[in-house]
Amino acid sequence: MKKLLVSLICTVAAALSYAANPTFTVDASQPVGKVSPSLYGLMTEEINHSYDGGLYAELIQNRAFLDNATKPFHWTVVSDNDSAATIALDSANSFNDKLTNSLRLTVTKAAKNHPAGVANSGYWGIPVQSKAAYRVSILARADSNFSGPVTVSIVSDDGSKVYAKENFSGLTAEWKKFELTLKTGRVAPTAEARFVITLDQPGTAWFGFVSLFPPTWNDQPNGFRKDLMRMLVDLNPKFLRFPGGNYVEGDTVETRFDWKKTIGPIEDRHGHPCPWGYRSTDGLGLLEFLEWCEDMKTEPVLAVYTGYSLKGAHINPGPDLEPFVQEALEEIEYVIGDVNTKWGARRAKDGHPAPFRLNYVEIGNEDWFDKSLSYDGRFAQFHDAIKARYPQLKTISSVGNEQPERLRVHSRKADMIDEHYYRSVDEFIRMSPGYAKKYDRSGPEIFVGEWAAYETTFPPWDARSKKEPPTPNLKAAIGDSVFMAAMERNSDLIKMQCYAPLFVNVNPGARQWRPDMIGYDAISAYGSPSYYAFQMFSRNLGDEILAVASPETTVQGCATRDSKTGQIFVKLVNPQPTAQSLDIEIKGVATLVAKGSATTLAGNPEDTNSIDHPKNVVPVVTAVRNVKSGFTYTLPPYGIVVLKLSAR
Ligand code: AHR
Repeated sequence: MKKLLVSLICTVAAALSYAANPTFTVDASQPVGKVSPSLYGLMTEEINHSYDGGLYAELIQNRAFLDNATKPFHWTVVSDNDSAATIALDSANSFNDKLTNSLRLTVTKAAKNHPAGVANSGYWGIPVQSKAAYRVSILARADSNFSGPVTVSIVSDDGSKVYAKENFSGLTAEWKKFELTLKTGRVAPTAEARFVITLDQPGTAWFGFVSLFPPTWNDQPNGFRKDLMRMLVDLNPKFLRFPGGNYVEGDTVETRFDWKKTIGPIEDRHGHPCPWGYRSTDGLGLLEFLEWCEDMKTEPVLAVYTGYSLKGAHINPGPDLEPFVQEALEEIEYVIGDVNTKWGARRAKDGHPAPFRLNYVEIGNEDWFDKSLSYDGRFAQFHDAIKARYPQLKTISSVGNEQPERLRVHSRKADMIDEHYYRSVDEFIRMSPGYAKKYDRSGPEIFVGEWAAYETTFPPWDARSKKEPPTPNLKAAIGDSVFMAAMERNSDLIKMQCYAPLFVNVNPGARQWRPDMIGYDAISAYGSPSYYAFQMFSRNLGDEILAVASPETTVQGCATRDSKTGQIFVKLVNPQPTAQSLDIEIKGVATLVAKGSATTLAGNPEDTNSIDHPKNVVPVVTAVRNVKSGFTYTLPPYGIVVLKLSAR
């Protein structure tokens, strides 16, 4: 019904004759700047179970038994009236010095039809897909009284359905790795399932690491969820900013993103507490971030740890900071060094001989919180060391023009500064028309490394956010879109921008922040209206900025042109509850093709998408007729429209 209405409004709009409406002028006679080709990208960090329980496809929660020091969180005993078992953490029998715990399973009573063992419910359910092959990998050892078999299966929560089952034998007192494939038949997909390990005779076994992966993007073994990767690729991102955000800083120096601990075999990764209140497995480590960029054909924007952590610890510039400078230089070498360098060779050993692409390194994150005022000195030390070894790299200061003068970097000129804007919809509507006018066009260039509009009366970090839906509604997408139009109008200076946070696992226990762009549970995912607005902007972009003017209307917008094809993209945002007719005047174009197209996202401001209603608010494409240098177009209430017009 909504799609019909949007389509009707667009058709009526096209039929209207050119009349005295407010004018929206696009001056195509002379571009006013070059659009940054890297304007639209992605920002990511471990928050809201973005990786563990999100993009990183591992299905077992607490696979290394390290989530809690005393209890095997997320693991429960499986038995019936005729079987019995106990489980306990056992740090005296650990696989290595990284996986410092194991799970001891003691089955005291069991028989063929009465097995006993242990189950894991994954990250809010184990997703069962139809006709799918799951990779199982288990590190196990046993007492001399037991060598197998061990049965692994995916079973419905109520135990009535076994979706897939296999077993293995040959356990000894030594740790061994067992790898199996579990195949499901034709089933209705569900996440109401568990992963179960059972014995059908008494015995004691230890498990050091239990991993289960569904089919992944490009079938990579330590890979990513396919549905989420598809959604990201569909945004046409040009870069990925990682690993944070707060995640790069950690709460303390010890819990920073310590990249060396995140590479190599996953059984050698201890993981670490992340600043968002849960433990990260580090399964998605530095190499996986880089491969993620490669998979999306984007380039990394690498944030390095620079001696400030969230709970206030800072390292003084000078000798104390030097080890961290070296750590960052080695990290960069791991990314771009050739195989003859120490860390390039290590990357090759880890499976990726070819260096990755890298142009930007961000020095920390939100260092304006460092009230010791050490950032200027810390920035200088990192900047100088990076420039000395890698003069081609551009450095980004994490403190931008929006911060008080005394917190900014003065002793060096950063190539780029990172600005963050979490603002209410009304604030974005107010500030966007004049946005960036005050900034010096000669630089530094601007990276809007985090931003999002919130439709609530309180900001994202307010406790009340927890009670709101995890993803924003259409009203928020209106705020996002006026700001995106402003950034696009200024993209000679605003070189890159990315919405944040990108991901949220919608289960209440998984969330720390809203609004978020993409929501998911164990088995399905959806885009918020903000996701679709971003997609409309990122996928319809020319390379020349055209001047726009709309003095008589509350409609905000921008225009760009593809210099090769001559196609003009006019983006219009109507924040009003009523339709807005505009006289659109395109100056400086000889002839426009009469038929263009409009992509429209519109509805009621409170309309939104969710797991149950993933496509409630989605863009609709319609034809626009009678396009000429002056034509009337009517925007629907609360509407975001991208007009694609062709010049001859
Ligand atoms: O995006 C959520 C958080 O907001 C980021 O981790 C941090 O950089 C900012 O304060």
